[in-house]
Amino acid sequence: MLPVKYTLKKTDGKARLGEIETPHGKIQTPIFMPVGTQATVKTMTPEELKEIKAEIILSNTYHLFLRPGDELIAKAGGLHKFMHWDRPILTDSGGFQVFSLGALRKITEEGVKFNSHIDGRKLFISPEKSIEIQNNLGSDIMMAFDECPPYPAEYEYVKQSLHRTTRWAKRCIDTNKHKDRQGLFGIVQGGVHEDLRDISLEELMQYEDEFSGFAIGGLSVGEPKEHMYRILDYITPKLPENKPRYLMGVGEPLDILEAVSQGIDMMDCVLPSRIGRHGTVFTRTGKLVVKNAKYKEDFTPIDEECDCYVCKNYTRGYIRHLFKANELLGMRLATYHNLHFLIKMMDEIREAIAEDRFYEYKENFIKKYTGEK
Ligand code: GUN
Ligand code: ZN
Repeated sequence: MLPVKYTLKKTDGKARLGEIETPHGKIQTPIFMPVGTQATVKTMTPEELKEIKAEIILSNTYHLFLRPGDELIAKAGGLHKFMHWDRPILTDSGGFQVFSLGALRKITEEGVKFNSHIDGRKLFISPEKSIEIQNNLGSDIMMAFDECPPYPAEYEYVKQSLHRTTRWAKRCIDTNKHKDRQGLFGIVQGGVHEDLRDISLEELMQYEDEFSGFAIGGLSVGEPKEHMYRILDYITPKLPENKPRYLMGVGEPLDILEAVSQGIDMMDCVLPSRIGRHGTVFTRTGKLVVKNAKYKEDFTPIDEECDCYVCKNYTRGYIRHLFKANELLGMRLATYHNLHFLIKMMDEIREAIAEDRFYEYKENFIKKYTGEK
């Protein structure tokens, strides 16, 4: 029996309403997962995350391996205990993060050699090492160690790379010491090529029974949006119906709506917290740069329609002042509101699917968000 179970409750077109049961509790899907790269969702305490109804967070193998080290986290009693978060945690495998290092790394069949971005130490992560680290962290959902080719990349390269991702996935399955309490997701690669996506999925399906879910990787890496939407439309409906489907690295409201309409159940992205720390906030009528001069004397909330703690108590003018004065509270308030915005949006999406009006919801949201009349 796999430790992570998916129940499909209802569909509206291709959109899916479901529930995922993990060793640290249940989550409702479609869901957005805030990112806590370094064992913290930047600026947010776990109590605040619960206040905005975050159900699961994501963390990173690569960063925690470098600092403070997975063995130290194991000594602390695992990642949940170490960071004081008792709900589900998904860990990315480190593949994507290592590949983002560019010139600092070397890929072989065995794994990836790289220099630490912190102190230059020579390090190595293989599929076995990634799973050993993730086993030490004790996440509920582990990701297979994959290769995410950049965009653009040569067709032949993307093809060889997806075969390697399959071989690595098998090595991940064979290494997992905690099959009873840590689920493993396979990652479909293949870039912007439909035939390669088919091959990747078909190869991974040899191990279908060993995977608790399937992710779509290699998207949102700089390709034009039409490519991402075309691949999503093409491959998502082919993923197994009885397992969660996770689109990696996507968190723009319009992309979330598109992904859900193709049958995606889980997404994550640093975007809401990152733009928040730089003074950009989501509103129902689009993004807004709250630190701009035009909000100097604007004493209305970030978003009139938002019922979050920030919008109930603070004004654009005040938050702008915090950013101009380099006060940390500015970053905290913007992050809080942005994460709340996406989590609330997912709540509305689930309600709309339950009531067979997701596509109407999507259309209305887009009209308002993009200012179309
Ligand atoms: N995050 C965003 N895209 C990817 C991907 O393709 N692979 C992994 N492991 N993480 C990602
Ligand atoms: Zn708000």
